[in-house]
Parts: sequence; structure tokens; C-alpha cells
Amino acid sequence: MSLKRIVVLISGSGSNLQAIIDAIESGRIRGQIVQVISNKADAYGLVRAANAGIPTCHIDHKAYASREEFDEEMRRTIDSQQADLVVLAGFMRILSSAFVEHYSGRMLNIHPSLLPKYKGLHTHQRALAAGDCEHGCTVHFVTEELDGGPLLVQAIVPIIDNDNELSLQNRVHAREHIAYPLAIEWICADRVRFEASGIYLNDELLPACGFRLGYEA
Ligand code: GRF
Repeated sequence: MSLKRIVVLISGSGSNLQAIIDAIESGRIRGQIVQVISNKADAYGLVRAANAGIPTCHIDHKAYASREEFDEEMRRTIDSQQADLVVLAGFMRILSSAFVEHYSGRMLNIHPSLLPKYKGLHTHQRALAAGDCEHGCTVHFVTEELDGGPLLVQAIVPIIDNDNELSLQNRVHAREHIAYPLAIEWICADRVRFEASGIYLNDELLPACGFRLGYEA
């Protein structure tokens, strides 16, 4: 089986990118990151990629007259890499429907909440304000609905006494670094199928919440 070709899109620190790089270097993920694209020139994730010897590309969204034109340039760039999988790792742009449609079933995102709860921003603050006892992160396929799309993996994080936004965010982030490489490992091993009826892992239909990693996993 040939190595899957992965393009990662970032806008910032790229700690999830780093976790994926580490999982590839350790041999867990049978894939290769062929390019990292950032819409921000100063994204630290570009440094992480360069340190790992991965080609990088900066596409400045502000240089394009419309979202569609920016997305079209990204699509051209990604397709020139013959990507099998597009991984959004802290990519802070809303994507046009044509772009999302083009990568249907082969584009993943990670979101810092137990979707469908808390789509959008400030998820940690909202979970605390609601008095939830659990929070977490979700890896999902990208569809037109913002932070929608079928769920592949969720990692649960307990909310503990005296948690604040930062402490909770840090613990969720640590779990993201487990959940995202795991999801990509499965996809690269051809263990995941994306179908109209749902997501299959090892030929078994996953529940709507995806595969759930408990506190200790
Ligand atoms: C993560 O919290 C992720 O859930 C969200 O953006 C953040 C990216 O963090 N989509 P990093 O750049 O990978 O450190």
C-alpha cells in the first residue's frame, strides 16, 4: 500500500501539526505530509514544518478579492500535490462550498468541543459557563455546515473543580494531540469509509458521536 499524501492547512501554532509529524516519524501513521499551507506568514506551524523538512507555502487570503478566489488558489496548490487527504489543523478561515465539495470525504478538521455541542468559537468558556462536567475535542469530516460533518473521533476531558478557560483549554489541547493522529492513522491504513449512511471504522458503522476515547485512553 502506498503512503497517503497529506496536505495540512494551518493558521497558527501548529501543535496538532507537530503531533501528526511526530506520529509519522514514529511510523504510526503510514502517510507523508507533502505540504503545509498557511494563510498567515508568521504562523509558527511553518517553522515546525520546515524543521521537519516539509515543503511549506504561504497563501495570503488578503491578496484575493473574494473567498472563492482564495479557495481556488488553495485548491490548485493542494491538487498539484495530488493530496489524498486534506487536514485542517487550526486553519482559521471559513471555506467556500465549492472547496468543501471538492474534498468531500477526504478533508478532516479538529474542533475543541464534543460536537455537536459548541460549534464556533470560545468553546471552553461556553462549556464552563454551562456547568458541564465533560468537555473535549472532535475530529470530523468537513461538510458545508461549519463544524458540522460526520464525526470520526471524540476525546473526552473531565471538567474539574477550579478549572478555568486556560486550564481546560490546555487539557483539551493535549487530547487533540492524541485524537488527531489516531484518526489520520486509521485513514492512512484504509480502515475508515465515508459513506452516505455514516462513517465506518473497520467495516463497522460508528455511532453519531464517532469513536470515543475515554479519559485514560
Ligand atoms: C486547536 O484548538 C483546534 O481544535 C482548533 O484550532 C486549534 C489549533 O491549535 N481547530 P494548534 O495550532 O494545532 O496548536
